[in-house]
Amino acid sequence: MDIKKLIRPELVTMKSYAPIEPTEVLSRRAELPVDKVVKLDGNENPYGCSPRVYQALAAYPYYHNYPDPEQRELRKALEEYTGLGRRHIVCGMGSDELIDLVLRLFLEPGEEVINCPPTFGMYPFSTDICGGRIVDVPRTEDFALDVSSMKKGLTRQTKVIFVASPNNPTGNSSTKKEIMELIDTGKIVVVDEAYFEFSNATVADSVPSYPNLVVLRTFSKWAGLAGLRIGYGFFPVDAADYLMKIKPPYNINAAAQAAVLASLADMEYLRANVARIVAERQRLFGKLKELDWLKPYPSQANFILCSLSYSLPCHSEGAKRPKNLAKEIWQGLRKKGIFVRYFDTPRLKNCLRISVGRPEDTDALIEALKTLPVIATLSEAKKKQSRDERKAK
Ligand SMILES: Cc1ncc(COP(=O)(O)O)c(C=O)c1O
Repeated sequence: MDIKKLIRPELVTMKSYAPIEPTEVLSRRAELPVDKVVKLDGNENPYGCSPRVYQALAAYPYYHNYPDPEQRELRKALEEYTGLGRRHIVCGMGSDELIDLVLRLFLEPGEEVINCPPTFGMYPFSTDICGGRIVDVPRTEDFALDVSSMKKGLTRQTKVIFVASPNNPTGNSSTKKEIMELIDTGKIVVVDEAYFEFSNATVADSVPSYPNLVVLRTFSKWAGLAGLRIGYGFFPVDAADYLMKIKPPYNINAAAQAAVLASLADMEYLRANVARIVAERQRLFGKLKELDWLKPYPSQANFILCSLSYSLPCHSEGAKRPKNLAKEIWQGLRKKGIFVRYFDTPRLKNCLRISVGRPEDTDALIEALKTLPVIATLSEAKKKQSRDERKAK
């Protein structure tokens, strides 16, 4: 029996999501002890979670019982943290699950979803799985939303528009004006604020005023809980009620709930870590900018996208041009135990995304970048090229 014949045909051919790997796997790949791995590929929190999370997890007495399907304590604590009423709030197994649930709620087979690449890969992934159709409206040269093209791309079949703000992997935020223009189209607008705590820009306060605005957040980044999988969203109250109806009843496990409650009771500690990451983002940006062959893009998140600048001789005639330099750099860093993100797409082929780590991670990264053999060879070629040009004059 060929099982493929029984699977939905569009799922047989759909593109897989390219996930990152955990530290233990990376340490085996790099043949380095875990504590020598510099993990800058997942936009995770280099300072981990609050120490109170470990205490709460050790002390929690009810792992043998199912968790609360109504998420009562969580929604109450999130109301206090965010200032938005609990009836607007639904928690998911990471914001990944909420992306999926929103599409399950609104999308009928064949309906369209507006996606603005380069952006987070889960929007097309979940759209495919939900039987929808992705309509890509690429961002502009500087990665801003192309709002007029987005509006032109709308049809009667369009149901949902996804906007990550700050956007992953480009780091820039959308303006409130742009979001409002999209809300005015009447389509469901999902603003994914996974990196909100690093940017402090939000449209969440508008959720109670619009029946078609959804805002998603997560504990994975600022609170260091990526491994426990918990996020939340703000929804119009009716939509929140339907989401509560269709979500898997026990989607938030007891450990994730205990961890979130402990985190929200330790805000001073977590906010201090966010401040350290934001300060390090600034320092990393400056260090990357000093390398004349890299162009970092300003970021409001906990990562920086860089493109390879065209001052490298690999872009000029005559010099030996590596087929895919960004990939070579990515591989060269991996050999040194430094993991960053490379995207194999036409628009990002020339780019690397680097998560903001601790100061020592920045130092190790910059040192490694400066000493990569491929860069040394190209720098030599560049010097020679300049000498030859001077001679020719
Ligand atoms: C824009 C964006 N949204 C959502 C997520 C997923 O977050 P979670 O860990 O809560 O599923 C990420 C993770 O990288 C992201 O970059």
